[in-house]
Amino acid sequence: MSDISVLLIGASGALGKPLLEELIRQKHLFKRVAILTAPDRASKFNDSEVEVIPGSLYDAKSYRGFTHVISAVGNALMVLQPAMVEAAVTGGVKHFYASEWNSDIAQPQIQNMRYFRDKQAVRAYLRSKSTQTPGFQYTLMVTGIFTEWALDEFYGFDHKNRRARLYGQPGQRIGVTSIPDIARYTVDSLRIAFDGPGRTLRVQGWTGKIEALISELEQARGVKYQITWAAVSEAKELEEQARVREEDWPEMQYSIKTLLASGHGVADGVGKLDNDLFDLKPEAPGETFRRIFHAA
Ligand SMILES: NC(=O)c1ccc[n+]([C@@H]2O[C@H](COP(=O)([O-])OP(=O)(O)OC[C@H]3O[C@@H](n4cnc5c(N)ncnc54)[C@H](OP(=O)(O)O)[C@@H]3O)[C@@H](O)[C@H]2O)c1
Repeated sequence: MSDISVLLIGASGALGKPLLEELIRQKHLFKRVAILTAPDRASKFNDSEVEVIPGSLYDAKSYRGFTHVISAVGNALMVLQPAMVEAAVTGGVKHFYASEWNSDIAQPQIQNMRYFRDKQAVRAYLRSKSTQTPGFQYTLMVTGIFTEWALDEFYGFDHKNRRARLYGQPGQRIGVTSIPDIARYTVDSLRIAFDGPGRTLRVQGWTGKIEALISELEQARGVKYQITWAAVSEAKELEEQARVREEDWPEMQYSIKTLLASGHGVADGVGKLDNDLFDLKPEAPGETFRRIFHAA
């Protein structure tokens, strides 16, 4: 058992749930595993297999007794993470995982993408806070696009009618990792120590051309898809219209819809992959697609 005590925020979320499952699977390796959630959201964890702390995410008391925090908050709370870090550091936390799990947003081509604005702000804050707080570290997990979400209706797929309308062009590279593998990489990384204030861990389950990923889907489902390619300028125009109307969520959505076939939806756009730090054979996209489509 290690000396690590882990507190998970966002435990019922799309990624938070698998992260919690993986923490439960590896619970024997940690001194303590718990969930922090706002009191009015705590009842959904009544049957939880781990300790539940109902409390403010912005109060140092909520973090006392924990060495590591994994923040898996969604977009609604993304930009509020610096306030969580402040409370966590005051409460004695030594290591903070920011809500990331995206493509490498340090790539110059996507660093200004609206969808990632709040994450960039959190990154800048953590860089500054960690250099001014001896003994405090942070981790950013960069994983590419979730395999389960990559060929989703969100990006323009219509699985019922077996067609897709995608922003961008064919021939671009994409990097994906399945959600259970992302959870495993993240929880495994808690026990990989490092020196210095912060680290970026880049892991990726599969990379190849977008058409090859679609072909994996076609094989898994045993059907062909009809793909049409739309101009990125159309999405950019819709994003701008939403910005003018001050509609934050549509503005964010239109910005990221262009990521899939941009060539920059990858974990290794800037730095090399860290897969070799982990003892894990990632799930191939075909297996992921079979898992999700045959379960449906
Ligand atoms: N690379 C990709 O393709 C990809 C895809 C999806 C997500 N992601 C990333 O994964 C991370 C987690 O995203 P997600 O989709 O799992 O997030 P999510 O499901 O939208 O939300 C996660 C958690 O945030 C808390 N939360 C949300 N709204 C709240 C509110 N109004 N008040 C208080 N708490 C609230 C909830 O915590 P409780 O459980 O305590 O209620 C919720 O479970 C994000 O960084 C996201 O960008 C990446």
